Amino acid sequence: MTTGSATVTLRTDARIGRIHPNLYGHFAEHLGRCIYEGLWVGEDSAIPHLRGIRQDTVCLLRELGAPVIRWPGGCFADDYHWEDGVGPRDQRPRRLNLWWPAEESNHFGTHEFIDVCRQVGAEPYICLNVGSGSPREARDWIEYCNAEGNTTLANRRRAHGHSQPFRVRYFGVGNENWGCGGQFDPVDYAKEYRRYACFLRAVGQDVQLIACGHTTADWNLRFLEAAEGASIDHLSIHRYYGSGPSTGFSEADHYQLVARAHQVESDIDQTAAALRLLRPGSRVGIILDEWGVWHPEARADSGLEQANTMRDAVSAATVLNILNQRADVVTMANIAQTVNVLQCVVQTDGAACWPTPTYHVFRMFRPHMGANAFVADVDGPTVEYAAADGARPSMPAVHASASARTDDGAMCVTLANRHLSEDIECRIALPGGTIGEANAIQLAGATADAHNTADAPDSVRPVEAHVERSGNEVRVILAKCSVAAIRLRVG
Ligand code: AHR
Repeated sequence: MTTGSATVTLRTDARIGRIHPNLYGHFAEHLGRCIYEGLWVGEDSAIPHLRGIRQDTVCLLRELGAPVIRWPGGCFADDYHWEDGVGPRDQRPRRLNLWWPAEESNHFGTHEFIDVCRQVGAEPYICLNVGSGSPREARDWIEYCNAEGNTTLANRRRAHGHSQPFRVRYFGVGNENWGCGGQFDPVDYAKEYRRYACFLRAVGQDVQLIACGHTTADWNLRFLEAAEGASIDHLSIHRYYGSGPSTGFSEADHYQLVARAHQVESDIDQTAAALRLLRPGSRVGIILDEWGVWHPEARADSGLEQANTMRDAVSAATVLNILNQRADVVTMANIAQTVNVLQCVVQTDGAACWPTPTYHVFRMFRPHMGANAFVADVDGPTVEYAAADGARPSMPAVHASASARTDDGAMCVTLANRHLSEDIECRIALPGGTIGEANAIQLAGATADAHNTADAPDSVRPVEAHVERSGNEVRVILAKCSVAAIRLRVG
């Protein structure tokens, strides 16, 4: 049923900034079946692999152009000792994974992670241990990865098979240090950060240091005040959200989840305001290095696994649109987590491997990577829903972002129709321009909780959508609870 109509006006002169490809990044932790089974099957596995790394997952991630992968955690990072994970695999120690109950074989360590990144074509982002580690351990890890000379650590890396430095650029100075990363208060963390940064900066001139921020303004303001003068390249925040079960959810759950995804807007704006106040004129970027849907089924004892539905894909499209709209301040984002865990893009079951609906959203949004974001104004129907507190707020049904490439001028407009029961006719207008070419792909499921499984890996997949083009506008019907990507060329 098509009842509403929306207009998206492309304001190509209202430029936001270049969308850093890393906004489309990923995060892989030693948690459940993300690393083991999801990425690493080992050299003796019957599942097709290259040096122990499963090729079906790699192939899907490569098709996404996955730009960056954050590792090894997460909470796991602040209890990870990198030396446990280098050298002959059969001699690596077996440890307790404190946060995600399991034994850690350490068969997947730094070399294996770098190998995954190289096979995928992604840049590595390593999260260092502040909680139970030391500046020395952290600076040694960077030297081990990046040193070119004749140092003992560089030679150890060579002895372990890599003569060339890994050239890792991104290093997180701890993870959620207000929580699992040591339960610091912002002032104490700032002191630790300053101490770490002093040595980390000295060991690697080209490294980008990522400080741990928070979604509370209080943490960010107090941390930045106390860290005055310390060298920071990026400030990281995390946002998870959910409402109701992963499948079989109510209408109210659906809209509440989408509304909660919008918290990313205020998280970024609050962090940007803190940076403007306490680092005026600086170029400290904001990194959302964990984000996504966290359903109640995703518990530690289930390896944080959950069904990944069309509703989740719509919420991911909303967040990716928000990131594009804030491309002037956001330098990276990493959805949690790459394979099998939380809002993963890939799921596996034994030898089976398939993309989630969220995977397809990333694939459809790929043209935004590296393009220039500009404002896309949406004028259309709103939908009223029941909030958890009994209020009846409303939200715009259609959500959009837009960008243009500098190389060939091609534009990409991505749209989410969050309406659960109504298709919406959408008119995309380019004032002052003539649209020469237009095509659209759309992702929708039979129901909002449609999802892919090992037996039905293509149950939710993008299909071409009909576009009508005339003069300076195109029209497309957005199915209920769907995501669309429109490519346009001025002609
Ligand atoms: O992604 C799962 C966990 O969520 C991470 O380990 C932690 O950083 C966050 O709280």
